[in-house]
Amino acid sequence: MLFKTPLSSPRGPAVIDMLQSVSGIILALFMWAHMFMVSSILLGNDAMYWVTKMFEGEPIFGKGYPILVSLFALFILSLIVLHAFLAMRKFPATHRQYRTLHKHLGGIRHTDSYLWYVQVITGFALFFLASVHLYQLIMHPADIGPFASSDRVWSGRMWPLYLVLLFVVELHGGIGLYRVLVKWGWFMGKDPKVGRKRLTIAKWTLTLFFLVLGLLTLAAYMKVGYEHQDRAGERYQPAAYSHLNSASQGGNH
Ligand code: HEM
Repeated sequence: MLFKTPLSSPRGPAVIDMLQSVSGIILALFMWAHMFMVSSILLGNDAMYWVTKMFEGEPIFGKGYPILVSLFALFILSLIVLHAFLAMRKFPATHRQYRTLHKHLGGIRHTDSYLWYVQVITGFALFFLASVHLYQLIMHPADIGPFASSDRVWSGRMWPLYLVLLFVVELHGGIGLYRVLVKWGWFMGKDPKVGRKRLTIAKWTLTLFFLVLGLLTLAAYMKVGYEHQDRAGERYQPAAYSHLNSASQGGNH
């Protein structure tokens, strides 16, 4: 049976717990895929241009449809709203609950309890930070590309938000996945103590990997944006595409 404990307990809270875990897993795995896509800028402008066109469906439809990015960003935003709504019931709500929590954290010094508190703080921050990013993508889906993204990061001064968002989302996603695996007893092996230790190492290794990749990626967008600031707004035109596309799209990116 996949979800061991909840199904035997009263249905309501179990279903909510499962929905929160499932939506969290999908969002965390999306963030890993997202970081690989966005870091294509490290392979050069043409690589990032290609990934952008792929997201717009060009390999399938012969031309790009930015609306597909809006729809997908809307789906991700809805999943975040569902996940946040389900998670909010676990936030300490009263002053007394906060006091008890701090006493608890101060008293037992249990790492997983601290991780839970990091989840509450990073989750709260994501309410605000992720919405800014997603709203822009939903409303301006065609403004993605080597120059368009770099101009937004540098001339559009989005880099401070991305810097904070990067740390917040990588911590939240990494800790979240770890807690889901421990909670449902996945990949724990025969000895839970050894299993938990192994998962902890895997969690911090992956979080560190994606933070380093994210920082290098952000630095790359800032560098391209800084060098392109006098021509901010001009769209990137890959040499290979220029003669192929101009006929079919009547414009460039
Ligand atoms: C479908 C949804 C999404 C799409 C299409 C998307 C697309 C992008 C693109 C194109 C960039 C490059 C910079 C730019 O163009 O402004 C970017 C950067 C970034 N996005 Fe997203 N994003 C999505 C969802 C999210 C979510 C849900 C989060 C976090 C909660 C997130 C966090 C970030 C971060 C931290 C960066 C900066 C990455 C770096 O340079 O290290 N994104 N995203």
